[in-house]
Amino acid sequence: MNRTIDQAWVDEAWSKALEKTRTNSISIGAEFPHASQGGKYVLEVPSWWTAGFWPGMLWQLYAGSGDEGLKAVAERCEERLDEVLDGYVKLDHDLGFMWLLTSVANYKLTGREESRVRGLKAANYLAARFNLKGRYIRAWNPWREGEDNSGVAIIDCSMNTSLLFWASEVTGDPRYRHIAEAHMDTVLEHFIRPDGSVYHIVNFNPETGEVAEKLGGQGYAPESAWSRGAAWALYGLALAYHHTGKLSYLHASKQVAHFFLTRLPEDQVPHWDFRAPGDVGEIRDTSAGSCAASGLLLLAGLVGESEAYIYRNGALRITESLYRNYGTWDNPGEQGLLLHGTSNYPEDRNIDVPLIYGDFFYVESLARIKGAGPFYWE
Ligand code: GLY
Repeated sequence: MNRTIDQAWVDEAWSKALEKTRTNSISIGAEFPHASQGGKYVLEVPSWWTAGFWPGMLWQLYAGSGDEGLKAVAERCEERLDEVLDGYVKLDHDLGFMWLLTSVANYKLTGREESRVRGLKAANYLAARFNLKGRYIRAWNPWREGEDNSGVAIIDCSMNTSLLFWASEVTGDPRYRHIAEAHMDTVLEHFIRPDGSVYHIVNFNPETGEVAEKLGGQGYAPESAWSRGAAWALYGLALAYHHTGKLSYLHASKQVAHFFLTRLPEDQVPHWDFRAPGDVGEIRDTSAGSCAASGLLLLAGLVGESEAYIYRNGALRITESLYRNYGTWDNPGEQGLLLHGTSNYPEDRNIDVPLIYGDFFYVESLARIKGAGPFYWE
């Protein structure tokens, strides 16, 4: 049974997000905000993994409103990313987060050839990170002297594989999809636990492909349950099913979704880690909530109506609570849309603050509820 959507709050939430983003588009401009401190988004260098979310949010709101001012800022952000794409050395697996929400978004909305080419360049760099022995996409480069992370794969990359699926769709060349599927098969085998929770990091032996260790990464501990990691997994697996029709991805996405939905506190907005103890475990991560909500809405559209309501209603409960309890609509002194995101608790970075990806997925969730696509991962 589908819950009837109270369209009034959805339209109101969309208008407030649009209004706030219009104001932000003037004060932030073609920059790369990540986390808000003291009411203002701190800007990052264009090579930081979050660079796509601000322009992605502008594209989403432009698509739903026709506001040319938002489009112009998104286009300038895309152009600024050329220095990262052409510079090459600062690229890691986040190519999907960065170019799906900029160039692929632009291409989908305007058909611009230059943007298609940028997306394809990014896809080629992502495909080149594939380790044949371990069948995983390498996450990071050695950023510090002596660091060797050539065996590291992370759950976040489940979202980035959509760039490879897109590249196969636009070129007709299946190689990109083959790599994406091989990586997602590795996710099924090594990242998803039987209870539906997920590991953040799996470290492989890059020569043999054997698993060396599994790590907690941005979660509380190796066997805990980092909520944003679960959101990346449920959404990324739903996307992999959408692109391939392989039922193993759909089943795993549902498994993670059930884990996620049954661990939510009363107000439906997740703690940053579902297994962190005591007061530490009380800290919220609104970005995990908004990302999971968008993934749940996609999932709801991929299954029959008899089960779609589980995912759709779960997503509606999360999104409505984000709107009513975590929004900054009455606070013009705060640029972030959603309070209480947690970026990296173990490294003591950006805890309990607005995060640009939390804002992006909140807007994307509202667009999904309204049926106001397109969506750039699909
Ligand atoms: N590692 C990207 C994230 O914070 O989810």
